This record gives sequence, structure tokens and C-alpha cells, in this order.
Amino acid sequence: MAVLVTGGTGFIGSHTCVELLEKGYDVVIIDNLYNSRQQVVDAIEKIAGRRPVFVKGDLLDEALLDEVFTKYDIDSVIHFAGLKAVGESVRLPENYYRNNIVTTLNLIDAMHRHNCTKIVFSSSATVYDAGEVSPLKETCRLGCTNPYGRTKLFIEEILRDVCVAHPEFTAILLRYFNPIGAHPAGLIGENPNGIPNNLLPYVTNVALGRLPQLNVFGNDYDTPDGTGVRDYIHVVDLARGHLNALDYAQTATGAQAFNLGTGNGTSVLEIVRAYEEENGVKIPVNIAPRRPGDNATTFADATRANEILGWHAEYDIRDMVRDSWNFAKITLANEEA
Ligand code: NAD
Ligand code: UD1
Repeated sequence: MAVLVTGGTGFIGSHTCVELLEKGYDVVIIDNLYNSRQQVVDAIEKIAGRRPVFVKGDLLDEALLDEVFTKYDIDSVIHFAGLKAVGESVRLPENYYRNNIVTTLNLIDAMHRHNCTKIVFSSSATVYDAGEVSPLKETCRLGCTNPYGRTKLFIEEILRDVCVAHPEFTAILLRYFNPIGAHPAGLIGENPNGIPNNLLPYVTNVALGRLPQLNVFGNDYDTPDGTGVRDYIHVVDLARGHLNALDYAQTATGAQAFNLGTGNGTSVLEIVRAYEEENGVKIPVNIAPRRPGDNATTFADATRANEILGWHAEYDIRDMVRDSWNFAKITLANEEA
């Protein structure tokens, strides 16, 4: 029996593969390498001491999905594959709906054809309505303002309907807050193409000297230091949450949503300070205008994941910024800028 991990060479997928392999699961990755590299498979093996099966391919390819389900004895799926850049999704909505939603429908169809009934899905805190006040609970109102977020919301709804129509089907919808950090071994981490949009990859590029300064998007928010507050979560903690979810899916029914966050908020300037102090590097900052679409404060109420999945985050902000920089020094610094 094996777990199919779509998007398994990506940032969160690769860390989850390590945890799965270390716990004895057999793992089959399918990834088209649109936003990741094949060398990640070697890095996963190096850390976990076991190699996942790697299939290079696209979830739009239904014949390939049938081949994978036929060849490997897949009994559950963790579905990470997707596009995730908010700004790009506004410019290219068709790509986002096709690559995130059509792919998920293909995957569900293949699961039906091969009697596979358990799926853990990568949702996002972005599904919560912008008017909701943190700490966000799973029962908060949902609503999205961009195509990327809507793909997550629509897929959640699709999986809910599938679970109603097929009572043997179970879907665990994991709403991630802000995953950062890297595996402590420094061999896998976040490695976006081009100039990063998200805070931590941007800070890391400044620390590496590839970008001159961090633009802090607004210091006039209603927060303790005026900069945006988010719930940053170590990617290894997040990855481990998928194993709890997979366990739970074996006996649970229906579609169920869980927040995966620490429950703590950290500001942009607190992240910068922690990064500088923990790593002994300098991060020059420039106060810039607010970024459209950002809100002041987002953090999770993770009680449901604590109580039902038996999961809680263990790493703190210092661990996260240390492991981000460790990955940058060991892996990113040796690659072409
Ligand atoms: P990532 O881009 O590093 O990983 C996604 C992987 O999916 C990549 O390796 C990419 O090559 C692959 N992929 C994309 N489309 C594919 C397709 N059609 N067929 C096969 N492979 C395909 O992203 P990540 O940060 O690891 O995120 C994983 C999932 O979690 C995504 O669905 C993302 O939307 C969601 N998520 C991420 C964050 C975050 O901050 N990173 C937050 C909330 C939710
Ligand atoms: C963003 C997306 C969200 C997505 C998540 C993970 C938007 C509006 N939201 O979340 O939908 O799920 O990424 O991919 O794009 N910041 C700076 N300077 C920078 C970058 C960020 O000050 O160069 C600030 C932001 O204003 C924010 C915080 O850092 O306060 C975190 O930003 P980011 O890492 O982009 O995550 P989110 O905006 O929370």
C-alpha cells in the first residue's frame, strides 16, 4: 500500500514525503516539475534514508493517472499539486482554474476508478472571508477575493459534494497559515522561481545579497508595531500535520476542515529582527506602501486540529528563521542566482 503525493517535489510536499518515508509509508510522487526540481527526490532520499517513487507527469493527463493507480497500490492521496501565486492568478485566471480545479477533478475520477477513498487536500487560510477577525476558526465565514483563493474554496466545495454523493469517500481539508522554514538538514526548502512574493523567501534573498533590501508593505496597520501580523508555521510541523490527517482519514467520514497554524501572530519587523539576531545577518528594510489585498492580522485558532487530529506545532519563530537560513547557505547559495 502506498500514498500518492501530488506535487511531492514542491516545498510542502517534499517535507511531507520525508515524514511519510521516515514513518514507514511507501510514497509515490507525481509532479510535473513546473515549480520544483527532480534533484529534490535525491534530497528526500538522503534525509529519509528511503527513496520515494517519482513519476514526472501532469495531473491533466488522465491516462497517466490510471497508469500510476494501476501500477502502484495507492490507498490514499495527499494532494499538494497546484499553482499558488495570488497576483499571477489575477492575470491568468484560466490557468489557475484549469491547473487547480480540472486537475483535482481528474484525480477524484481516477480515485473512483481505482477504489481509493481517502484524500488530504492542501487548502489555505486564504479561504476565510477578509472581514473575519483572528483567531480564525474553521466555522468562520468563507469568501475569497482572488482566483487563486477561489480555486481553494471551490475545491473544498467539490470535495464536500463528492463526500455526500460517495459516503465511503473521506476528504481532510487542511487550511495552512503561513508555512516557512526548511528541513533542519538544509537539503530541502522553499526555492521559488524569480523574485519572491512571500516574506521569508524575500528576506532570504536579501540575506544572500541577491536583493538590496526588504520592502515592508505598510507600517500603519492597527498592530503593535504597525506592520502586518501572520501565523508563521514551520514547514516540518505542517508536514507532520498531514500524517495526523492521513491517520484520521482512515476512520473519519465526510469532508472535514482543519486549520494548521501555531495560533500565534508575528509581525514583519519581528520576523526581520529574529532573522538578523538568530543568523547574524543584516536585513536592510524600506517602509513601502501597503500591498493591495493584504490585511493587518491573520492567525489561527488551531484547537480543532489539536483536539481531533492530536496535532500541534512544536517549532518557534527562531527555529523557522534559523532553518530558512541554513537551507539558503547549504543549498541555495550553491545554485545559480
Ligand atoms: P510548490 O509550488 O512548491 O509545490 C507544488 C508542486 O505542484 C510543484 O512541485 C509543482 O511542480 C507541482 N504541480 C503544479 N501543477 C501540477 C500539475 N498540474 N501536475 C503535476 N504537478 C503539478 O507549492 P507549496 O508551497 O509546496 O504548496 C503546496 C500546496 O499547498 C499548493 O496547493 C498550495 O496552493 C497550498 N498552499 C501553500 C501555501 C504556502 O504558503 N506555500 C499556503 C497555503 C496553501
Ligand atoms: C500570501 C497570499 C495568500 C497565500 C500565502 C501563501 C496575498 C495577499 N496573500 O499570504 O493568499 O495563501 O501568501 O502563498 O498575496 N510582506 C512584506 N514584504 C514582502 C512580502 C511580504 O512586508 O516583500 C508582508 C506582507 O504584507 C504580510 C507578510 O509580510 O504582512 C506576509 O506576507 P506573505 O508571505 O506574502 O504571506 P500572506 O500575505 O499572508
